[in-house]
Amino acid sequence: MQIPFGNKSIEELNSENENLDNCHIVRGSSVEIETGLILYGLARMNNSRVIIETGTSHCYSALHLAQAIKDNGGGMLYTIDKEQGETFRLDNAGLSNCYQSLIGDSVQVLSDLMPTLAEIDFVFLDANHAINHVADELRLTWPKLKVGGILTIHDVFNENMTPLCYSLQKQFPFMMMPNRPSVGIGIGQKIEDVPLDLNWERLL
Ligand SMILES: C[S@@+](CC[C@H](N)C(=O)[O-])C[C@H]1O[C@@H](n2cnc3c(N)ncnc32)[C@H](O)[C@@H]1O
Repeated sequence: MQIPFGNKSIEELNSENENLDNCHIVRGSSVEIETGLILYGLARMNNSRVIIETGTSHCYSALHLAQAIKDNGGGMLYTIDKEQGETFRLDNAGLSNCYQSLIGDSVQVLSDLMPTLAEIDFVFLDANHAINHVADELRLTWPKLKVGGILTIHDVFNENMTPLCYSLQKQFPFMMMPNRPSVGIGIGQKIEDVPLDLNWERLL
């Protein structure tokens, strides 16, 4: 399966960057190929139009999420990172109209952004994996995630993250899929409009 990013494949997009080999995946700390495909598929199934991502970086996950928005008929990916991400990939792929890059600490940016959005369809968390940081990102995004909306978290088998993820499993459908040691993706769906209990130590 090959998702076209604009009219280009991921290999073509990689080869346009002279700092990268023409390798099959964007290198570094980007999400894995299968994770990118899962994100794209979930966002398409969910017809997501408003997506929040923390951890822009190489934009590999952002490419899949923005492409899903385009294929869904339009919308906006708000992708947040404390540093400037490689958003040229999104521009090269013809996805400029489908994303906004917001730079700063994700908790601070989300604090400012959330009051401006009516509803979110999809959340992907892949920034700072410290448990309290992820809990803060959840505290800010969950109330705006629509019923039926999708929550995804990368690196759920990172030992910092598992206690929080196990506590999520006790509250709503949340599946943890392993792929590599300490990595994996968590996939959940908000099925009712109830607050999230983020007192994870008590819930274990
Ligand atoms: C694992 S990388 C994200 C990879 C990206 N999803 C991809 O597929 O290319 C993690 C990113 O989170 C960012 N980050 C770390 N702590 C952060 C924070 N407190 N706020 C915002 N971004 C943060 C880092 O700068 C880094 O770019």
